[in-house]
Amino acid sequence: MQLILLGAPGAGKGTQAEFICKQFGIPKISTGDMLRVEIAARTPIGQKVQGIMAEGKLVPEEIVNSLLMARLKLPDCKKGFLLDGYPRTISQAELLETNGILIDAIIEIYISDEDIIKRLSGRRIHPQSGRTYHIIYQPPKNPEIDDITQEPLIQREDDKEETVRMRLQVYHQQTEPLIAWYQKRSPNKYIQVEGEGAVNSICDQIMQKLGSVMEKRDGDRHINQG
Ligand code: AP5
Repeated sequence: MQLILLGAPGAGKGTQAEFICKQFGIPKISTGDMLRVEIAARTPIGQKVQGIMAEGKLVPEEIVNSLLMARLKLPDCKKGFLLDGYPRTISQAELLETNGILIDAIIEIYISDEDIIKRLSGRRIHPQSGRTYHIIYQPPKNPEIDDITQEPLIQREDDKEETVRMRLQVYHQQTEPLIAWYQKRSPNKYIQVEGEGAVNSICDQIMQKLGSVMEKRDGDRHINQG
């Protein structure tokens, strides 16, 4: 299963990615998480992207493309993967195509900008794993502590309100055009879910819609082989 998760910053991509990946036994590949690991390790890439990410802008394509392509070559991707935060531009989507990387479904989570701004101020993350919490909607068992490792949670540097507004602007200008692009190219693989509501119910809707896409895909394969 090779999936793409699309949506504005804070739409709930990372949150839903955890459930989807567990369900299908596939790795979550988040370019944002990969870049934050580079920053934490103070690598040359990390030093290059730190300021750009703190401003809420997209990092240069050559950096994110080479990180992603290297990650997709690792053995755990043989059984499939879920891309969270990639592609973010049409040229990134074209790169997947030119490299022959086939996608089974594109899942878009949509939510209003106002709700996103409210949400991101309460987000906390476990930087080592990328696990996400919210101080009100999805709190950890103990405040500011990761449920699994008991390590401290942090607030992301780019979750300040003015940076969130910049990230939303970048999303509308550079990433949103991907919605029409994929809907036109792969209408049978395109899934949309409303990101406002209980986390479990959004997850159920995704699973149900993914089931329909897979049934249709398997039906088409059967007809073509028959
Ligand atoms: P990235 O890390 O990908 O961030 P993002 O896309 O902006 O998305 P977020 O992680 O902020 O949000 P999310 O949708 O995963 O929401 P979450 O589940 O956490 O990218 C960061 C930066 O890296 C970019 O700005 C860019 O600079 C760079 N970058 C990354 N990829 C790149 C690329 N391909 N090209 C160029 N640059 C790239 O949920 C948010 C909060 O809401 C959480 O607190 C959560 O607990 C809560 N929540 C979730 N669901 C619900 C719900 N249903 N109800 C209530 N609360 C909820």
